[in-house]
Amino acid sequence: MKALITSGGKGTRLRPLTHTQNKHLIPIANKPILHYAIEKVADTGIKEIGIVTNQECEEVINEIGDGSRWGVKIRYIPQEAPLGLAHVIKISEDFIGKEPFVFYLGDNMVVGGLERFINAFEGDSVNCYLTLARVKDPERFGVPEIDGNRILRVEEKPRIPKSQFAVAGIYIYDHHIFEAVNSIEPSARGELEISDAHQYLLDHDYKVGFTEITGWWKDTGKPVDLLEANRLILEHQKSEIKGEVDENSFIAGNVVLQPGAKIIDSTIRGPAIIGKNTVVKNSYIGPFTSIYDDCIINNSEVEFSIVLSQCQIIDVGIRIESSLLGKDVQIINAVGKPKTHKFMIGDQSRVELY
Ligand code: DAU
Repeated sequence: MKALITSGGKGTRLRPLTHTQNKHLIPIANKPILHYAIEKVADTGIKEIGIVTNQECEEVINEIGDGSRWGVKIRYIPQEAPLGLAHVIKISEDFIGKEPFVFYLGDNMVVGGLERFINAFEGDSVNCYLTLARVKDPERFGVPEIDGNRILRVEEKPRIPKSQFAVAGIYIYDHHIFEAVNSIEPSARGELEISDAHQYLLDHDYKVGFTEITGWWKDTGKPVDLLEANRLILEHQKSEIKGEVDENSFIAGNVVLQPGAKIIDSTIRGPAIIGKNTVVKNSYIGPFTSIYDDCIINNSEVEFSIVLSQCQIIDVGIRIESSLLGKDVQIINAVGKPKTHKFMIGDQSRVELY
């Protein structure tokens, strides 16, 4: 069995972060999202992974490398434009050959291993195995219509969903999926839709099995999804103190301090992670916060947030909460008169003031 992981697409819903960074490299609990996908696949014993990239693929290749870190071999497969998930599969036919494969959307995160799905795919001798997750907003996803233990139809982002389920971004296929992706036509939005490929399999009497992901699954398409994924991962992490904590500081709960992190006159209330060489001084870091490497947090409070590398949060008089700060962002106290807010913000940023 092989695996195919996506790292392309446009990431428009995560702008401005994705103006300068591929969304799959945004860290969740201080680790790029794409690492989680590779780890899940590598844990099943799969040794060959194809990663489908967009035109700006250098960043992904530099970060991920040849896969030896995970004991796997990675082949990069360039996609000339984001022409849909069925197109991703279509261009990967040479890499996959006749083998069954796991198709894993690189922006999806799931708790628990993939073996249970692979075992069911093999045990039930199906051509395609789908994972479903119960969601509040099925209209954002591919949605199955289910009758007992059969999927009747799958619709992509339907206006009126036929169930409360989303087809999650972890699929297992045999080679018949290539017949499907080579037969379907682009949708109204110009993409070869994965849901249309699934519908093709159903219409042509191929066996489509499915299971509900009962644990936790997240498509990290929107900023709030990133915060939620961060919360979940931090909740499951184990405390590890590799940085320095001075005697006036207080560390409570599940906290990871990465090497070179310094906590001075501060309180860190976990679950939280503080990255390499980040200095937290006279500050409070509250639950579900990830501060990445080389940041300075001074005389400020941060909670339920993701802060990327080299940020500075200094003398901010109000707690920062539910926030996502990109790389090298400064939030500092304005001095002097008049008492004003001053902004230097990139395209498509969002600021909420109280
Ligand atoms: O997350 C599950 C959902 O993923 C499914 O329920 C939908 O049926 C499926 O179409 C997909 O919907 P999204 O709107 O979430 O797909 P998105 O455009 O976010 O792309 C998912 C991943 O695939 C992401 O890693 C980007 C990558 N991608 C996407 C397209 C369209 C590519 O690499 N190339 C592409 O052409």
